[in-house]
Amino acid sequence: MRRGAAAGLCYDRLMADPSAADILRFHLEAGVDETIGESPVDRFASAGQAASEAATEPAPEKPPPPARRALRDAPRATAGEAPAPPNGGRVSQAVQAAWSLAAAANSVAELKAAVESFEGCGLKKTATNTVFADGNPEARVMFVGEAPGAEEDRQGLPFVGPSGRLLDRMLETIGYGREKFYVTNIVFWRPPGNRNPTTDEIAACLPFVERHIELAAPDVLVPLGGPAAKTLLGRAEGITRLRGSWHSYSTAHMSAPVDAMATFHPAYLLRSPANKRQAWRDLLEIRQKLDGAAD
Ligand code: URA
Repeated sequence: MRRGAAAGLCYDRLMADPSAADILRFHLEAGVDETIGESPVDRFASAGQAASEAATEPAPEKPPPPARRALRDAPRATAGEAPAPPNGGRVSQAVQAAWSLAAAANSVAELKAAVESFEGCGLKKTATNTVFADGNPEARVMFVGEAPGAEEDRQGLPFVGPSGRLLDRMLETIGYGREKFYVTNIVFWRPPGNRNPTTDEIAACLPFVERHIELAAPDVLVPLGGPAAKTLLGRAEGITRLRGSWHSYSTAHMSAPVDAMATFHPAYLLRSPANKRQAWRDLLEIRQKLDGAAD
């Protein structure tokens, strides 16, 4: 589902004026099926104005997206203490704010409240709910997906739509119901129209995701799909390369690294069921690791 300003179309007018209905049909076919504003916004006019302003103003300095390693290696603040900005101070204010809030959280519940209070990720403006996590935060295995979809946005819970149902079925086959795993995403709000989250959106959420993993302290971390795997493992390869072998995940505040096994995202498996066989192998590896590790 995509969202858009309804361009002032009210129901009566639509019924009386077929051209307005045509416009609505056109929007629906384009995937815009939700209203996010009371009045229309002329994006062409504002784009023209922005362009002329940009011509007279110096371009703002855009901070480079923070590398996970730079964030990881930065000193972490304790509650109430402002953290030293990672990346030599070149990160955006949003990332610094996220870093401070995440650092001050000393439990998963505190972290959830911190994420809900965070205004530094643009995705929050168009989302219905913050989607923090589901399952058991004490579980030994933690899955990290990409971004909430429409159903997740409605319910405020991750992986409750079609790909979540597949994830549940896959995990049931190795004896893991939701009470035995924990699941979250690398961003906490649904990107409009289910587009991919941008680098800046991921960067703004990453301090919370890292702190989340520190606080949940799973034995095994499972990034689901390419974006989560690349973000968490700090690697450039795609999921086909990254899945199927063990990696190490650590932050400056973990006493020991966590074993990480990336696998295909269930949404991808719904589209490419032939790859379920490889995902099944990954799950067996994960179960073996969990069976071998002490409780
Ligand atoms: N896909 C994801 O990556 N996460 C969700 O929560 C749902 C679908």
